[in-house]
Amino acid sequence: MTNVLLIVPDPEMRESMRNQLQANSYVIECHSSFPLQTPASMQIILCHAELAEGVNGLFGVNDCPVILFSKDADIKKAVAAVREGAADYLVYPFLPDELVAAVERALGSRYLHPHPVAGEAMVFYPMLGRCELMLELFARIQKVAPTESTVLIEGESGTGKELVARALHASSSRQQAPLISLNCAAIPETLIESELFGHERGAFTGATSMRSGLIESADNGTLFLDEIGELPVEAQARLLRVLQEGEIRRVGSTRTHKVNIRLIAATHRNLKALTKTGHFRDDLYYRLNVVSLQLPPLRDRGGDIADLANYFLGKICKTLNRPLLTLSPATTAAISNYNWPGNVRELENAIERAVILCDGNVIEADALAIDHSVVANAGTANAHDSSAEPVEDESHNSLEDYFVKFVMEHQDQCTETELAHQLGISRKSLWERRQRLSIPRTKTRRKTPRRNS
Ligand SMILES: Nc1ncnc2c1ncn2[C@@H]1O[C@H](COP(=O)(O)OP(=O)(O)OP(=O)(O)O)[C@@H](O)[C@H]1O
Ligand SMILES: [Mg+2]
Repeated sequence: MTNVLLIVPDPEMRESMRNQLQANSYVIECHSSFPLQTPASMQIILCHAELAEGVNGLFGVNDCPVILFSKDADIKKAVAAVREGAADYLVYPFLPDELVAAVERALGSRYLHPHPVAGEAMVFYPMLGRCELMLELFARIQKVAPTESTVLIEGESGTGKELVARALHASSSRQQAPLISLNCAAIPETLIESELFGHERGAFTGATSMRSGLIESADNGTLFLDEIGELPVEAQARLLRVLQEGEIRRVGSTRTHKVNIRLIAATHRNLKALTKTGHFRDDLYYRLNVVSLQLPPLRDRGGDIADLANYFLGKICKTLNRPLLTLSPATTAAISNYNWPGNVRELENAIERAVILCDGNVIEADALAIDHSVVANAGTANAHDSSAEPVEDESHNSLEDYFVKFVMEHQDQCTETELAHQLGISRKSLWERRQRLSIPRTKTRRKTPRRNS
């Protein structure tokens, strides 16, 4: 089911379009003028060209494609619309099936074709980027997506690894089947095997009934293993067997059965280095690394940084129902020069905070709460260096300071589970805070006791 937002002032034209779309099982929400808020569930917007004129941020709303149409067959207008980011421009009345074909095309090509959005930034739905490194990445995604190859996505925290995984799946022949994701760092090591491979009844204490695992759920689709560097060694061996033999054995079972999955893995760690220390199996590493995609850190993306800042600004102002704010030249300069240890995610958060706190129409540099001394071209800039943290209001920060200090001091002596326990939080929230505060795990893992399998 695809949700379509249809915006047409003329009632007759609206009804005719609604009928055509309904006959093709689209779910349609109709408006005679541009609604104040676009429902988040919309997957495509069809809007009369006249109404689209002057609507700020129409392109890029919820990252969904926009098709414009009008009775006016003006080629110049059509070209301008597409240049501004429209997926298509149609002339009413439509030829039979023309409307539905255009909708299908726009939905299908979302991930395939870089589109210009307002401000002429390039977007590879839903990723924005036009620097050379990102354009190369988009080209590689397009090449590898339709294949069955295993893909390893590498990049620092917050650089867009998950978006790449989703783009790969959505552009593959498996797009109709599920994309199943698991963050290997976010669930306890002792549960990971049964989560992935399933278990038989009585396989271990607490296994009161048979359960199938995520790999089986991903059958015929894609399995995305995020932070694969955190996968325990025992589970690595089982995963390797799935990749090599195309079959799976539940924990506690003697039987195997066939599964057909495509694996996409991501990590912010250097997997190759982990194979040297014995924390990652090198046979699995080579199996994963058939094609690798590198996400550049934000500081290497040149003009994309300002594009992204403006893109988030437009999006956030719209979500928060505020008139479009602007960045002062000093703010843009500060954004472009900062090291952004948390990359795109940190930039998005900084812009959101600035929008919320801004009283006027212009966002000044201090509203970003970044430390301007942490500049991108400092040479020694290290994304994982906690001294590169943004400096924030101290009263808000004392707990976080304590957290960072505690983790840095204790992580080499205990496992993640022990560390989380000492901090009185779950392993998952320890992981989340590490991401937010840019203190990724550096410690080498102690082996966990083997479970009965
Ligand atoms: N090129 C981009 N254009 C627009 N938004 C982006 C881009 N890259 C990342 N984002 C946004 O930044 C945030 C982080 O992206 P994502 O979760 O894919 O990164 P990640 O590398 O998986 O992060 P982590 O290492 O923390 O898991 C998301 O909100 C995502 O939508
Ligand atoms: Mg991620």
